[in-house]
Amino acid sequence: MANVTVIGAQWGDEGKGKVVDWLASRADLVVRFQGGHNAGHTLVVGNQTYKLSLLPSGLVRGKMGIIGNGVVIDPEALLAEIDRVISQGLKVSPETLRIAENAILILPLHGAIDRAREAARGDAKIGTTGRGIGPAYEDKVARRAIRVCDLAEPETLSFKLDELLLHHNTLLKGLGAPTFEKQALFDQLLAYAPRILPFVEPVWERLDEARRSGKRVLFEGAQAVMLDVDHGTYPFVTSSNTVAANASIGSGMAPSALGFVLGIAKAYCTRVGSGPFPSELHDDIGRLLGERGREFGTVTGRPRRCGWFDAAMVRQAIKVGGIQGIVMTKIDVLDGLPELKVCVGYRINGQEYNYLPAAMRAQAAAEPIYETIAGWSASTKGARSYAELPAEAVKYIRRVEELIEAPVTLLSTGPERDDTIMMRDPFEG
Ligand code: GDP
Ligand code: IMO
Ligand code: MG
Repeated sequence: MANVTVIGAQWGDEGKGKVVDWLASRADLVVRFQGGHNAGHTLVVGNQTYKLSLLPSGLVRGKMGIIGNGVVIDPEALLAEIDRVISQGLKVSPETLRIAENAILILPLHGAIDRAREAARGDAKIGTTGRGIGPAYEDKVARRAIRVCDLAEPETLSFKLDELLLHHNTLLKGLGAPTFEKQALFDQLLAYAPRILPFVEPVWERLDEARRSGKRVLFEGAQAVMLDVDHGTYPFVTSSNTVAANASIGSGMAPSALGFVLGIAKAYCTRVGSGPFPSELHDDIGRLLGERGREFGTVTGRPRRCGWFDAAMVRQAIKVGGIQGIVMTKIDVLDGLPELKVCVGYRINGQEYNYLPAAMRAQAAAEPIYETIAGWSASTKGARSYAELPAEAVKYIRRVEELIEAPVTLLSTGPERDDTIMMRDPFEG
Protein backbone atom coordinates (compact mmCIF):
# COMPACT_ATOMS: atom_id res chain seq x y z
CA MET A 1 0.00 0.00 0.00
CA ALA A 2 1.54 3.28 -1.13
CA ASN A 3 0.44 5.40 1.83
CA VAL A 4 2.59 7.51 4.14
CA THR A 5 2.08 8.47 7.79
CA VAL A 6 3.93 11.54 9.08
CA ILE A 7 4.48 12.01 12.83
CA GLY A 8 6.70 14.21 14.99
CA ALA A 9 9.71 12.44 16.53
CA GLN A 10 10.60 15.02 19.19
CA TRP A 11 8.37 17.50 21.10
CA GLY A 12 6.51 19.02 18.16
CA ASP A 13 7.19 21.84 15.67
CA GLU A 14 9.69 19.72 13.75
CA GLY A 15 8.32 20.95 10.41
CA LYS A 16 5.56 18.38 9.86
CA GLY A 17 3.44 20.92 7.95
CA LYS A 18 6.25 21.71 5.53
CA VAL A 19 6.93 18.03 4.91
CA VAL A 20 3.25 17.11 4.50
CA ASP A 21 2.79 19.98 2.02
CA TRP A 22 5.82 18.76 0.07
CA LEU A 23 4.66 15.13 0.06
CA ALA A 24 1.05 16.07 -0.74
CA SER A 25 1.95 16.54 -4.40
CA ARG A 26 2.24 12.74 -4.51
CA ALA A 27 -0.93 12.02 -2.48
CA ASP A 28 -4.67 11.99 -3.23
CA LEU A 29 -5.96 12.58 0.30
CA VAL A 30 -4.43 14.13 3.43
CA VAL A 31 -5.87 13.00 6.76
CA ARG A 32 -5.53 14.58 10.22
CA PHE A 33 -6.12 11.94 12.88
CA GLN A 34 -5.46 13.49 16.31
CA GLY A 35 -4.85 16.74 18.14
CA GLY A 36 -6.73 19.94 17.51
CA HIS A 37 -5.95 23.63 17.23
CA ASN A 38 -3.08 23.16 19.68
CA ALA A 39 -1.17 22.25 16.50
CA GLY A 40 0.39 24.97 14.39
CA HIS A 41 1.81 23.93 11.03
CA THR A 42 3.62 26.56 8.98
CA LEU A 43 3.92 26.23 5.21
CA VAL A 44 5.98 28.63 3.13
CA VAL A 45 5.10 28.64 -0.56
CA GLY A 46 6.70 31.42 -2.58
CA ASN A 47 5.78 34.69 -0.86
CA GLN A 48 2.78 33.19 0.96
CA THR A 49 2.95 31.75 4.49
CA TYR A 50 0.08 29.54 5.62
CA LYS A 51 -0.43 28.75 9.29
CA LEU A 52 -2.72 25.77 9.69
CA SER A 53 -4.01 24.35 12.95
CA LEU A 54 -6.97 22.14 12.11
CA LEU A 55 -6.99 22.03 8.34
CA PRO A 56 -4.93 19.25 6.75
CA SER A 57 -1.80 20.70 5.10
CA GLY A 58 -2.65 19.09 1.73
CA LEU A 59 -5.33 21.76 1.21
CA VAL A 60 -2.67 24.20 0.06
CA ARG A 61 -2.09 21.92 -2.95
CA GLY A 62 -5.84 21.57 -3.49
CA LYS A 63 -5.78 17.97 -2.25
CA MET A 64 -8.82 16.53 -0.47
CA GLY A 65 -8.34 17.04 3.26
CA ILE A 66 -10.01 14.91 5.89
CA ILE A 67 -10.40 15.74 9.57
CA GLY A 68 -10.68 12.33 11.19
CA ASN A 69 -12.66 11.22 14.22
CA GLY A 70 -9.53 11.37 16.40
CA VAL A 71 -9.32 15.17 16.09
CA VAL A 72 -10.94 17.49 18.64
CA ILE A 73 -12.61 20.37 16.79
CA ASP A 74 -13.34 23.82 18.13
CA PRO A 75 -16.03 24.94 15.65
CA GLU A 76 -15.24 28.61 16.13
CA ALA A 77 -11.53 28.04 15.52
CA LEU A 78 -12.27 25.86 12.50
CA LEU A 79 -14.55 28.44 10.87
CA ALA A 80 -12.07 31.24 11.58
CA GLU A 81 -9.28 29.19 10.01
CA ILE A 82 -11.38 28.40 6.95
CA ASP A 83 -12.15 32.11 6.50
CA ARG A 84 -8.48 32.99 6.95
CA VAL A 85 -7.15 30.57 4.33
CA ILE A 86 -9.93 31.50 1.90
CA SER A 87 -8.81 35.12 2.25
CA GLN A 88 -5.31 33.90 1.31
CA GLY A 89 -6.71 32.46 -1.89
CA LEU A 90 -7.24 28.79 -0.99
CA LYS A 91 -10.41 26.91 -1.87
CA VAL A 92 -12.20 25.25 1.03
CA SER A 93 -15.49 23.59 0.17
CA PRO A 94 -17.05 20.14 0.65
CA GLU A 95 -15.12 19.18 -2.52
CA THR A 96 -11.81 19.68 -0.71
CA LEU A 97 -12.62 19.16 2.98
CA ARG A 98 -14.48 16.42 4.83
CA ILE A 99 -15.02 16.11 8.56
CA ALA A 100 -15.73 12.87 10.43
CA GLU A 101 -19.25 12.80 11.85
CA ASN A 102 -17.90 11.16 15.01
CA ALA A 103 -15.18 13.74 15.77
CA ILE A 104 -15.37 15.46 19.17
CA LEU A 105 -16.22 19.14 19.63
CA ILE A 106 -14.31 21.56 21.84
CA LEU A 107 -16.62 24.07 23.55
CA PRO A 108 -15.65 27.37 25.20
CA LEU A 109 -15.94 25.70 28.62
CA HIS A 110 -13.08 23.34 27.73
CA GLY A 111 -10.69 26.23 27.23
CA ALA A 112 -11.92 27.81 30.48
CA ILE A 113 -11.27 24.59 32.43
CA ASP A 114 -7.88 24.13 30.76
CA ARG A 115 -6.75 27.64 31.73
CA ALA A 116 -8.25 27.57 35.23
CA ARG A 117 -6.50 24.27 35.98
CA GLU A 118 -3.19 25.54 34.64
CA ALA A 119 -3.49 28.63 36.86
CA ALA A 120 -4.26 26.41 39.85
CA ARG A 121 -1.16 24.29 39.16
CA GLY A 122 1.10 27.30 39.59
CA ASP A 123 4.75 26.36 39.08
CA ALA A 124 3.77 22.77 38.31
CA LYS A 125 1.84 23.86 35.21
CA ILE A 126 2.10 21.77 32.04
CA GLY A 127 2.27 24.83 29.83
CA THR A 128 -0.70 23.77 27.70
CA THR A 129 -1.88 25.87 24.80
CA GLY A 130 -4.96 26.70 26.90
CA ARG A 131 -7.25 25.72 24.06
CA GLY A 132 -9.26 23.06 25.84
CA ILE A 133 -7.60 20.07 24.17
CA GLY A 134 -7.12 18.00 27.36
CA PRO A 135 -10.61 18.62 28.80
CA ALA A 136 -12.22 17.75 25.43
CA TYR A 137 -10.40 14.40 25.24
CA GLU A 138 -11.34 13.76 28.88
CA ASP A 139 -15.01 14.23 27.96
CA LYS A 140 -14.58 11.80 25.08
CA VAL A 141 -13.39 8.93 27.25
CA ALA A 142 -15.91 9.91 29.94
CA ARG A 143 -18.63 9.40 27.27
CA ARG A 144 -20.19 12.81 27.70
CA ALA A 145 -18.59 14.67 24.78
CA ILE A 146 -20.60 16.47 22.12
CA ARG A 147 -19.71 15.21 18.67
CA VAL A 148 -19.93 16.85 15.27
CA CYS A 149 -22.97 14.70 14.33
CA ASP A 150 -24.88 16.08 17.35
CA LEU A 151 -25.09 19.44 15.56
CA ALA A 152 -27.79 17.82 13.39
CA GLU A 153 -29.82 16.64 16.40
CA PRO A 154 -30.93 19.55 18.62
CA GLU A 155 -32.60 17.15 21.12
CA THR A 156 -29.37 15.19 21.57
CA LEU A 157 -27.44 18.43 21.91
CA SER A 158 -29.80 19.71 24.61
CA PHE A 159 -29.67 16.47 26.58
CA LYS A 160 -25.88 16.21 26.36
CA LEU A 161 -25.37 19.83 27.37
CA ASP A 162 -27.24 19.14 30.63
CA GLU A 163 -24.80 16.37 31.56
CA LEU A 164 -21.79 18.33 30.38
CA LEU A 165 -22.70 21.45 32.35
CA LEU A 166 -23.50 19.54 35.52
CA HIS A 167 -19.96 18.20 35.42
CA HIS A 168 -18.05 21.25 34.24
CA ASN A 169 -19.87 23.97 36.15
CA THR A 170 -19.24 22.03 39.37
CA LEU A 171 -15.55 21.94 38.50
CA LEU A 172 -15.41 25.60 37.41
CA LYS A 173 -17.09 26.71 40.64
CA GLY A 174 -14.51 24.72 42.60
CA LEU A 175 -11.72 26.46 40.70
CA GLY A 176 -13.31 29.86 41.31
CA ALA A 177 -13.91 30.44 37.59
CA PRO A 178 -17.10 31.74 35.90
CA THR A 179 -19.67 29.09 34.96
CA PHE A 180 -21.52 28.58 31.64
CA GLU A 181 -25.20 28.94 30.72
CA LYS A 182 -26.88 26.18 28.74
CA GLN A 183 -29.00 28.34 26.44
CA ALA A 184 -26.09 30.45 25.21
CA LEU A 185 -24.02 27.34 24.41
CA PHE A 186 -26.97 25.64 22.74
CA ASP A 187 -27.72 28.67 20.54
CA GLN A 188 -24.07 29.06 19.64
CA LEU A 189 -23.71 25.42 18.58
CA LEU A 190 -26.89 25.53 16.50
CA ALA A 191 -25.62 28.69 14.82
CA TYR A 192 -22.44 26.85 13.72
CA ALA A 193 -24.41 23.88 12.37
CA PRO A 194 -25.32 25.21 8.90
CA ARG A 195 -21.67 26.09 8.18
CA ILE A 196 -20.15 22.87 9.56
CA LEU A 197 -22.65 20.18 8.56
CA PRO A 198 -22.07 20.39 4.77
CA PHE A 199 -18.53 19.08 5.40
CA VAL A 200 -19.63 16.20 7.61
CA GLU A 201 -19.79 12.55 6.56
CA PRO A 202 -18.74 9.06 7.64
CA VAL A 203 -15.13 9.56 6.44
CA TRP A 204 -14.29 5.90 7.05
CA GLU A 205 -16.40 5.11 4.00
CA ARG A 206 -14.47 7.53 1.78
CA LEU A 207 -11.19 6.12 3.10
CA ASP A 208 -12.34 2.57 2.43
CA GLU A 209 -13.24 3.57 -1.12
CA ALA A 210 -9.79 5.23 -1.45
CA ARG A 211 -8.15 1.99 -0.31
CA ARG A 212 -10.11 -0.10 -2.81
CA SER A 213 -9.39 2.22 -5.72
CA GLY A 214 -5.66 2.44 -4.93
CA LYS A 215 -5.63 6.13 -4.00
CA ARG A 216 -2.68 7.41 -2.01
CA VAL A 217 -3.40 8.55 1.53
CA LEU A 218 -1.08 10.79 3.52
CA PHE A 219 -1.73 10.82 7.28
CA GLU A 220 -0.67 14.08 8.96
CA GLY A 221 0.23 13.81 12.63
CA ALA A 222 0.20 16.71 15.07
CA GLN A 223 2.44 17.15 18.14
CA ALA A 224 5.03 14.37 18.51
CA VAL A 225 5.98 11.09 20.15
CA MET A 226 7.48 12.72 23.26
CA LEU A 227 4.13 14.50 23.75
CA ASP A 228 2.17 11.22 23.37
CA VAL A 229 -0.16 10.62 26.30
CA ASP A 230 1.23 7.06 26.75
CA HIS A 231 4.79 7.22 25.47
CA GLY A 232 5.78 10.83 26.09
CA THR A 233 7.20 12.71 29.07
CA TYR A 234 3.99 12.27 31.09
CA PRO A 235 2.36 14.33 32.57
CA PHE A 236 4.02 17.02 30.41
CA VAL A 237 2.30 15.76 27.28
CA THR A 238 -0.76 16.44 25.17
CA SER A 239 -3.93 14.39 25.65
CA SER A 240 -3.87 12.21 22.54
CA ASN A 241 -1.76 9.42 21.11
CA THR A 242 0.62 10.92 18.61
CA VAL A 243 2.28 7.66 17.53
CA ALA A 244 1.58 6.26 14.06
CA ALA A 245 -0.80 3.60 15.41
CA ASN A 246 -3.34 6.31 16.18
CA ALA A 247 -3.63 7.19 12.49
CA SER A 248 -5.71 4.04 12.21
CA ILE A 249 -7.97 4.65 15.21
CA GLY A 250 -8.25 8.37 14.52
CA SER A 251 -9.42 7.89 10.93
CA GLY A 252 -11.21 4.55 10.79
CA MET A 253 -8.70 3.03 8.37
CA ALA A 254 -7.03 -0.33 8.98
CA PRO A 255 -3.60 -0.45 10.68
CA SER A 256 -2.31 -2.16 7.54
CA ALA A 257 -3.16 1.01 5.55
CA LEU A 258 -0.70 3.32 7.28
CA GLY A 259 2.09 2.60 4.79
CA PHE A 260 5.57 4.02 5.34
CA VAL A 261 5.91 5.83 8.67
CA LEU A 262 8.02 9.00 8.46
CA GLY A 263 9.20 10.64 11.66
CA ILE A 264 10.09 14.33 11.48
CA ALA A 265 13.02 15.53 13.59
CA LYS A 266 14.92 18.81 13.69
CA ALA A 267 18.71 18.63 13.40
CA TYR A 268 18.59 19.99 16.97
CA CYS A 269 15.77 19.95 19.48
CA THR A 270 13.06 22.30 20.76
CA ARG A 271 10.19 22.15 23.22
CA VAL A 272 7.37 24.58 24.14
CA GLY A 273 5.79 24.37 27.57
CA SER A 274 7.09 22.68 30.71
CA GLY A 275 8.65 19.27 31.24
CA PRO A 276 11.97 17.46 31.00
CA PHE A 277 14.41 18.37 28.22
CA PRO A 278 17.79 16.76 29.01
CA SER A 279 19.73 18.35 26.12
CA GLU A 280 18.33 21.87 26.68
CA LEU A 281 20.83 24.72 26.33
CA HIS A 282 20.62 27.77 28.57
CA ASP A 283 23.59 29.50 26.93
CA ASP A 284 24.41 31.58 23.85
CA ILE A 285 24.21 28.56 21.55
CA GLY A 286 20.67 27.88 22.76
CA ARG A 287 19.75 31.51 22.10
CA LEU A 288 21.43 31.38 18.68
CA LEU A 289 19.41 28.30 17.69
CA GLY A 290 16.24 30.05 18.83
CA GLU A 291 16.99 33.20 16.81
CA ARG A 292 18.22 31.48 13.67
CA GLY A 293 15.50 28.85 13.75
CA ARG A 294 12.86 31.51 14.56
CA GLU A 295 11.78 29.28 17.39
CA PHE A 296 8.56 30.87 18.56
CA GLY A 297 5.38 28.82 19.03
CA THR A 298 3.10 29.04 15.98
CA VAL A 299 0.02 28.89 18.21
CA THR A 300 0.99 30.79 21.36
CA GLY A 301 4.00 32.85 20.24
CA ARG A 302 5.95 31.56 23.26
CA PRO A 303 9.72 31.23 22.72
CA ARG A 304 10.63 27.58 22.25
CA ARG A 305 13.28 26.07 24.50
CA CYS A 306 16.26 24.95 22.38
CA GLY A 307 18.94 22.28 22.75
CA TRP A 308 21.18 19.77 21.03
CA PHE A 309 19.86 16.85 19.00
CA ASP A 310 18.90 14.06 21.39
CA ALA A 311 19.65 10.81 19.56
CA ALA A 312 18.69 8.64 22.54
CA MET A 313 15.25 10.23 22.63
CA VAL A 314 14.71 10.08 18.87
CA ARG A 315 15.78 6.41 18.85
CA GLN A 316 13.16 5.75 21.55
CA ALA A 317 10.54 7.72 19.56
CA ILE A 318 11.37 5.67 16.47
CA LYS A 319 10.84 2.41 18.34
CA VAL A 320 7.60 3.28 20.16
CA GLY A 321 6.23 5.40 17.31
CA GLY A 322 6.70 2.82 14.56
CA ILE A 323 8.93 5.18 12.54
CA GLN A 324 10.73 3.68 9.52
CA GLY A 325 12.53 6.72 8.20
CA ILE A 326 13.41 10.19 9.47
CA VAL A 327 13.06 13.57 7.78
CA MET A 328 15.76 15.76 9.28
CA THR A 329 14.67 19.40 9.16
CA LYS A 330 16.36 22.75 9.80
CA ILE A 331 19.91 21.51 9.25
CA ASP A 332 20.61 25.03 7.91
CA VAL A 333 20.17 26.42 11.43
CA LEU A 334 23.38 24.60 12.46
CA ASP A 335 25.45 26.28 9.69
CA GLY A 336 28.60 27.94 11.00
CA LEU A 337 28.70 26.30 14.41
CA PRO A 338 32.28 25.01 14.83
CA GLU A 339 31.27 22.09 17.00
CA LEU A 340 28.02 20.19 17.50
CA LYS A 341 26.91 17.94 20.30
CA VAL A 342 24.53 15.01 20.14
CA CYS A 343 22.99 13.44 23.23
CA VAL A 344 23.60 9.68 23.16
CA GLY A 345 22.24 8.70 26.58
CA TYR A 346 21.57 9.94 30.10
CA ARG A 347 23.14 9.83 33.51
CA ILE A 348 20.45 9.58 36.17
CA ASN A 349 21.43 9.48 39.83
CA GLY A 350 24.83 8.01 38.95
CA GLN A 351 23.51 5.37 36.57
CA GLU A 352 23.75 5.39 32.77
CA TYR A 353 20.71 4.90 30.53
CA ASN A 354 20.42 4.72 26.74
CA TYR A 355 16.72 5.64 26.98
CA LEU A 356 14.55 7.98 29.03
CA PRO A 357 12.86 5.99 31.81
CA ALA A 358 9.21 6.79 32.56
CA ALA A 359 9.36 8.00 36.17
CA MET A 360 8.91 11.76 36.59
CA ARG A 361 11.75 12.41 39.03
CA ALA A 362 14.14 10.25 36.98
CA GLN A 363 13.26 12.23 33.83
CA ALA A 364 13.77 15.53 35.63
CA ALA A 365 17.18 14.35 36.88
CA ALA A 366 18.42 13.08 33.49
CA GLU A 367 21.80 14.60 32.57
CA PRO A 368 22.80 14.30 28.92
CA ILE A 369 25.80 12.24 27.82
CA TYR A 370 27.22 13.98 24.75
CA GLU A 371 29.23 12.99 21.74
CA THR A 372 30.97 15.88 19.98
CA ILE A 373 30.85 16.12 16.18
CA ALA A 374 32.60 18.64 13.93
CA GLY A 375 30.44 21.41 12.51
CA TRP A 376 30.69 23.06 9.07
CA SER A 377 31.29 26.60 7.89
CA ALA A 378 29.69 26.43 4.43
CA SER A 379 25.96 27.00 4.01
CA THR A 380 23.39 24.23 3.69
CA LYS A 381 20.53 26.73 3.42
CA GLY A 382 18.32 26.02 0.46
CA ALA A 383 20.46 23.08 -0.74
CA ARG A 384 18.43 20.92 -3.09
CA SER A 385 20.82 18.01 -3.63
CA TYR A 386 23.13 15.97 -1.45
CA ALA A 387 26.09 17.04 -3.58
CA GLU A 388 25.60 20.66 -2.43
CA LEU A 389 26.10 19.76 1.24
CA PRO A 390 29.44 20.30 3.03
CA ALA A 391 31.19 16.98 3.85
CA GLU A 392 30.83 17.61 7.60
CA ALA A 393 27.07 18.01 7.28
CA VAL A 394 26.88 14.65 5.52
CA LYS A 395 29.05 13.14 8.28
CA TYR A 396 26.70 14.59 10.91
CA ILE A 397 23.69 13.02 9.19
CA ARG A 398 25.47 9.65 8.85
CA ARG A 399 26.41 9.63 12.53
CA VAL A 400 22.85 10.53 13.53
CA GLU A 401 21.56 7.64 11.39
CA GLU A 402 23.86 5.23 13.25
CA LEU A 403 22.79 6.52 16.65
CA ILE A 404 19.05 6.51 15.97
CA GLU A 405 19.21 3.18 14.12
CA ALA A 406 17.08 4.47 11.23
CA PRO A 407 17.72 6.11 7.85
CA VAL A 408 17.35 9.82 7.12
CA THR A 409 15.13 9.57 4.04
CA LEU A 410 14.52 13.27 3.46
CA LEU A 411 16.38 16.41 4.41
CA SER A 412 14.92 19.90 4.79
CA THR A 413 17.30 22.80 4.24
CA GLY A 414 14.96 25.78 4.58
CA PRO A 415 11.34 26.73 5.24
CA GLU A 416 10.49 27.02 1.53
CA ARG A 417 8.52 24.13 0.07
CA ASP A 418 11.27 23.10 -2.36
CA ASP A 419 14.20 23.42 0.07
CA THR A 420 13.99 19.65 0.34
CA ILE A 421 16.29 16.78 -0.60
CA MET A 422 14.76 13.35 -1.11
CA MET A 423 16.99 10.33 -0.62
CA ARG A 424 14.16 7.83 -0.88
CA ASP A 425 10.51 8.28 -1.91
CA PRO A 426 8.42 7.22 1.10
CA PHE A 427 5.46 6.46 -1.17
CA GLU A 428 7.62 3.74 -2.75
CA GLY A 429 7.84 2.10 0.70
P1 GDP B 1 5.12 21.61 12.71
O1 GDP B 1 4.22 21.95 13.86
O2 GDP B 1 5.85 20.33 12.92
O3 GDP B 1 4.41 21.65 11.39
O4 GDP B 1 6.22 22.75 12.68
P2 GDP B 1 5.98 24.35 12.80
O5 GDP B 1 5.41 24.82 11.52
O6 GDP B 1 5.24 24.66 14.05
O7 GDP B 1 7.45 24.86 13.05
C1 GDP B 1 8.46 24.61 12.13
C2 GDP B 1 9.04 25.97 11.65
O8 GDP B 1 10.25 25.75 10.99
C3 GDP B 1 8.14 26.68 10.66
O9 GDP B 1 8.26 28.07 10.87
C4 GDP B 1 8.74 26.30 9.31
O10 GDP B 1 8.50 27.28 8.30
C5 GDP B 1 10.19 26.21 9.64
N1 GDP B 1 10.95 25.22 8.86
C6 GDP B 1 10.56 23.99 8.43
N2 GDP B 1 11.60 23.35 7.84
C7 GDP B 1 12.65 24.18 7.93
C8 GDP B 1 14.03 24.07 7.52
O11 GDP B 1 14.48 23.06 7.01
N3 GDP B 1 14.84 25.14 7.80
C9 GDP B 1 14.38 26.27 8.40
N4 GDP B 1 15.25 27.26 8.62
N5 GDP B 1 13.10 26.41 8.79
C10 GDP B 1 12.25 25.38 8.56
P1 IMO C 1 2.49 20.85 16.48
O1 IMO C 1 1.49 19.96 15.76
C1 IMO C 1 4.60 21.87 20.14
C2 IMO C 1 2.49 21.13 23.91
C3 IMO C 1 2.12 22.34 24.72
C4 IMO C 1 2.19 21.75 26.12
C5 IMO C 1 1.66 20.33 25.91
C6 IMO C 1 0.19 20.15 26.26
O2 IMO C 1 2.52 22.24 15.96
O3 IMO C 1 3.82 20.19 16.55
P2 IMO C 1 -2.05 20.90 25.08
O4 IMO C 1 -2.58 22.26 24.74
O5 IMO C 1 -1.92 19.99 23.90
O6 IMO C 1 -2.80 20.24 26.21
O7 IMO C 1 -0.58 21.17 25.65
O8 IMO C 1 1.87 20.03 24.55
N1 IMO C 1 2.01 21.16 22.50
C7 IMO C 1 2.79 21.39 21.44
N2 IMO C 1 4.09 21.72 21.38
N3 IMO C 1 3.88 21.69 19.01
C8 IMO C 1 2.58 21.34 19.05
O9 IMO C 1 1.87 21.01 17.96
C9 IMO C 1 1.96 21.22 20.32
N4 IMO C 1 0.72 20.91 20.75
C10 IMO C 1 0.76 20.88 22.07
O10 IMO C 1 3.04 23.38 24.54
O11 IMO C 1 3.55 21.64 26.52
MG1 MG D 1 3.87 23.52 15.19
